[in-house]
Amino acid sequence: MEGKIRWGILGCGKIANKFAADLRWVDDAELQAVASRDNDKGKVFAQEHGASLVFDSYEALAASDQVDVIYVATPHGFHYEHVMLCLKHRKAVLCEKAFALNTRQAMEMIGLANQQKIFLMEAFWTKFIPQYQRVRELILAGEIGEVKMIQADFGFKADEPPAQRLYDPVLGGGSLLDVGIYPVFLAISLLGKPTEIQATVSRYSTGVDEQCAMTMKFESGALASLNSTFAADTPVEAVISGTKGRLHMRNRFHNAVATVELVRGKESPVLLPVHREEGFGYQFEARHVGECLRQGLTESPVMTHADTRMLMETLDRIRNVCGISYSVD
Ligand SMILES: NC(=O)c1ccc[n+]([C@@H]2O[C@H](COP(=O)([O-])OP(=O)(O)OC[C@H]3O[C@@H](n4cnc5c(N)ncnc54)[C@H](OP(=O)(O)O)[C@@H]3O)[C@@H](O)[C@H]2O)c1
Repeated sequence: MEGKIRWGILGCGKIANKFAADLRWVDDAELQAVASRDNDKGKVFAQEHGASLVFDSYEALAASDQVDVIYVATPHGFHYEHVMLCLKHRKAVLCEKAFALNTRQAMEMIGLANQQKIFLMEAFWTKFIPQYQRVRELILAGEIGEVKMIQADFGFKADEPPAQRLYDPVLGGGSLLDVGIYPVFLAISLLGKPTEIQATVSRYSTGVDEQCAMTMKFESGALASLNSTFAADTPVEAVISGTKGRLHMRNRFHNAVATVELVRGKESPVLLPVHREEGFGYQFEARHVGECLRQGLTESPVMTHADTRMLMETLDRIRNVCGISYSVD
């Protein structure tokens, strides 16, 4: 692969705007092309972020020989369709979370990528941010002893009227897949596959979960208490407590603006220095994708296909307990 990695963006919505803005912090990347169902919107987006090509169909972007990798930024109800489209055109893909609506879809997407020997990764940006990586290092180094309890939440009060994406089942609406996925990711990435899951939801009028409360038990006996909601502004914090101390991720725990405090035993909290950069924090995953492509990898060694599978399987189990289903289940 000569020159910079040429990115294409499929779907010019809110998160696509942030991701495109962050590509400027990735030396090895250029935003080459965007595709929108609305050509005028695509042109404005391209102009704002310096993309040379604008396509008025997703298929045209997928078929273009001018891009090396496509970032799929449509609602998760369409990730299966849009990722499969890109893979069929032999394009590497970075796909937003939730990766798919269920494990079956996810495994078909991964199956096609493997068959075609094409790179595919879930854009789980938290795994690449310095705060999460520091927390993980400290836990592996035994700084808080054995992890016994994780508490984490992600909630916000949706604007009125709410964005259609949040509550429409066809688009993959529901708080669990949209924001509950972050607390779930945190717990399972630190403790592994849950042995037991209990959960309950309050539904919105469309049938999807407006709120979800979960309790999980893990092989080690550790427990997690996790929540998501679109109905209230919650702290969006995580507390990971172990036998020797705890780590407190405040101020949007999943995000590159988070602060991390370490509390040893009964001592006062110590604010940990973490690497910070300008931008929203999507540049970390984008740099990683570039490195994987340079190395000719078809799977990230950081956010692996097994990680995506365990996350999707856990989300399926939670939905199953709560009786939340999508038409594709
Ligand atoms: N990693 C993160 O921090 C983060 C944050 C927010 C969202 N997300 C994820 O990113 C994805 C998109 O979220 P978003 O907030 O960016 O959504 P959004 O603002 O609604 O944008 C989604 C885009 O998808 C395209 N699209 C294609 N078919 C659509 C349909 N039937 N209805 C609506 N849009 C359609 C549209 O692009 P065109 O009109 O240009 O074709 C639309 O602008 C979701 O999967 C979400 O979970 C991730």
